[in-house]
Amino acid sequence: MIRFKTTSPEQTELFGKGLAKSLGAGDVIALTGDLGAGKTCLTRGIADGLGSTAHVSSPTFTIVNEYDGGRLMLFHFDTYRLSGPDDFLMSGLDEYFYRNGICVFEWSDIIDELLPEDSIRMTITGDGDMRLFECNCSEKHQCYIEEAARNAGAEVEK
Ligand SMILES: Nc1ncnc2c1ncn2[C@@H]1O[C@H](COP(=O)(O)OP(=O)(O)OP(=O)(O)O)[C@@H](O)[C@H]1O
Ligand SMILES: [Mg+2]
Repeated sequence: MIRFKTTSPEQTELFGKGLAKSLGAGDVIALTGDLGAGKTCLTRGIADGLGSTAHVSSPTFTIVNEYDGGRLMLFHFDTYRLSGPDDFLMSGLDEYFYRNGICVFEWSDIIDELLPEDSIRMTITGDGDMRLFECNCSEKHQCYIEEAARNAGAEVEK
């Protein structure tokens, strides 16, 4: 587990931008955290870091938005309105795991049991302009996360 804090939306985006540089085809980032936690803000940074100029917003009317124009495709999910894992599977959305892009999930807890084993799981909490990121992932990804957090000027807790 790695934990770090950001103190502004810009810093969260900068972290996402840095993290994107280390992501590879098929990587999955699973985000949990309340409304306004910063899930979309982080995803915006990831899109930027992949080289996409697309405007990233929460996929409100669709479950998934697809962004191209970057080094890898970005599939941005909001699973908030899914009733559960069966709903995800019945809609054929698991197909995205095999499309060699980056999958980012907002409200990933709803489909947690379907996530690949090496997914990067992040929980975001906090208030005001402070956000605490708690990340569970492989050691390799922990190194990248720590580096991206430090490069963004975030305070890393050990
Ligand atoms: N350190 C921070 N990191 C990220 N966002 C922050 C931070 N401090 C304040 N904010 C604010 O928190 C809000 C985060 O909004 P965002 O849309 O990213 O949340 P979300 O988790 O995607 O919410 P939802 O579940 O509604 O989609 C923005 O208004 C942003 O300006
Ligand atoms: Mg959002």
